[in-house]
Amino acid sequence: MVSDIGLDKNGTAKTAEGLNQYLADLHILYAKLHAYHWNIEGPMFFPLHEKLQEIYEAVAESIDEIAERILMIGHRPLTKLGDYQAHAKIKEVESRKIGDQDMVGDLLADHQYLIKTLRGIIEVAGESNDEGSADLAIAELRAHEKTVWMLSAHLG
Ligand SMILES: [Fe+2]
Repeated sequence: MVSDIGLDKNGTAKTAEGLNQYLADLHILYAKLHAYHWNIEGPMFFPLHEKLQEIYEAVAESIDEIAERILMIGHRPLTKLGDYQAHAKIKEVESRKIGDQDMVGDLLADHQYLIKTLRGIIEVAGESNDEGSADLAIAELRAHEKTVWMLSAHLG
C-alpha cells in the first residue's frame, strides 16, 4: 500500500519504528531535562538552568516534528506515556540534588545514544527512498552533535 506522499507503507514501517523509538526517548529526555533544570545546585546553577530550558524547548519542537513525520509516512506515533516508558532506552531520574558534572555527564551519554539511534534511522530511511525522513533525522543529528560538543566542552 502506498502512502499519500508516494512511499510504500511496508517500506517505511522500519523507519516509523525507529522514529517511534526516538519519539519515546525524547519524551523521557524531556522529563529528565526538567528534573535537572529544577534540581541543579551549585555555582553552575544560572548558566545550566537556562541552557537546560533551551534544550528542553528544542526537544518539545522535535517531538512534534517526529510524530507528524510518522503520520506523513503512513504510520501512527506512540501517544501514551506508558508506551514511551516501555520503549525508551533513556532512563528517568529521581528528583534529587545533583551537581553539574554528574548531570552533564549523564546528558552527554544520552545524546551520544540518540546520535547512534538517528544514524540508524537515516540508513533505514535511505533504503526505502524516504529522503524526507532522512533529512529530518539528519537535522536532529546535527543538533544533537552540537549539544554533545557543548556538553563535552563543559566537562573539559
Ligand atoms: Fe523553568
